[in-house]
Amino acid sequence: MLKTKDPKIYNLIKKEELRLKNTLQMIASENSPSKEVLEALGSVFNFKYSEGYPYQRYYQGTVNTDEVEVAAEERARNLFKVPFVNVQPYSGSPANAAVQLALLKPLKSKIMGLSLAYGGHLTHGASVSFSGKLFKTISYELNKEGLLDYGKIKKIAIKEKPDLIICGATAYPRIIDFKKFAEIADKVGAYLLADISHIAGLIVAGVHPSPARYAHIITTTTHKTLRGPRGALIMVTNKGIKKDPNLSSKIDKAVFPGLQGGPHQNQTAAIAVALKEASGRSFKKYGEQVVRNSKVLAAELKKHGFNLVSGGTDNHLILIDLRNKAVNGAIAALALETAGIILNKNAVPNDQNPPFYPAGLRLGTAALTTQGMKEREMVKIAKWINEVINECPQILLPKTKGERKIIWDKFKKDIAKAEKLLKIAKEVKFFCARFPLP
Ligand SMILES: Cc1ncc(COP(=O)(O)O)c(C=O)c1O
Repeated sequence: MLKTKDPKIYNLIKKEELRLKNTLQMIASENSPSKEVLEALGSVFNFKYSEGYPYQRYYQGTVNTDEVEVAAEERARNLFKVPFVNVQPYSGSPANAAVQLALLKPLKSKIMGLSLAYGGHLTHGASVSFSGKLFKTISYELNKEGLLDYGKIKKIAIKEKPDLIICGATAYPRIIDFKKFAEIADKVGAYLLADISHIAGLIVAGVHPSPARYAHIITTTTHKTLRGPRGALIMVTNKGIKKDPNLSSKIDKAVFPGLQGGPHQNQTAAIAVALKEASGRSFKKYGEQVVRNSKVLAAELKKHGFNLVSGGTDNHLILIDLRNKAVNGAIAALALETAGIILNKNAVPNDQNPPFYPAGLRLGTAALTTQGMKEREMVKIAKWINEVINECPQILLPKTKGERKIIWDKFKKDIAKAEKLLKIAKEVKFFCARFPLP
């Protein structure tokens, strides 16, 4: 038993369970998988080495592993309506790395993705990531309203002639028009990769359009709105196979042996379970409720005077622009954590703040909806968020890093004792008891 053999780690697990139970989980990229998914994740498949692909392995003893991987592939193909899936990427970043390895030539090929500062992911060409270091990159941004500007994206693509255009984001609250992206990619002869990591569950539930007809390749993490274990899928569409009949085999080779060794087959088993869950009727209802909750939360936050990037939301996430509130995202996120509301600081379009103290907050409804919360609960949560932000001291950020650190450290100490926030934390804890995690 872990409790007796390793009490330190056992206690940390118990403490983490309590933290999750007593606070509101509003980080837009997080979710709570079912007990069955976790059962598969903790199963004996953790044992098995199985480099290669089903029925073509470099190890013996893969008879059951093969069946698990084939089931996961089949379920993913059916769910996303694509002809080919690789289920082996360890997570979303390696999935995007494998696609780039499969399609591009280091130092020669060019990637065009949404800028990190405007909601793109690191692996979409950010200079600090492998994608920005290994390949030439050019980014597009959002317009003044916080929306994708397809006309401008097209102009950049025509001028820059990227080899790969990536659409999809880590902090974009609106519908992505995959058809328009496809028109742009086709015009310049680029591959189109749709990274649907954040919205995969919404696509499955039919509340966000699918890129399957428009992109050549689709990547997704499996642990966000899709509600599976940590992991990722790479899918090749019919359009992708038409552009390059060898695309699927290039993807397979890029994942193994190109980038990874042995696949995590306990993860594959858990992905298979999650995909089965996502194909049921209740998952459709779940996705619909995620978006309804998000829209109500956004409308309530606006009533409290919050400015939202793009004015609202179409999906599971909301970006608050705090510039009218005399508080930055770092201060606000820590104050909210003290009050039991867990979300993350985030840059907003045209953010002039230093990256550690961005001007915004990102929050989402995927995990709260998994716990059974509905519109009524969103009204209450918006009210708490407003109360917390109103409690935040007005701190002007000094110019130097050193001075900022002194102020930040003092704020951290003071906020931990803020009575009003601790009172809200108690209310939140009481409220959460009605919505247990799966
Ligand atoms: C759009 C997008 N792509 C890829 C990733 C990377 O996933 P991971 O953190 O599993 O590597 C993320 C993670 O947040 C993401 O939001």
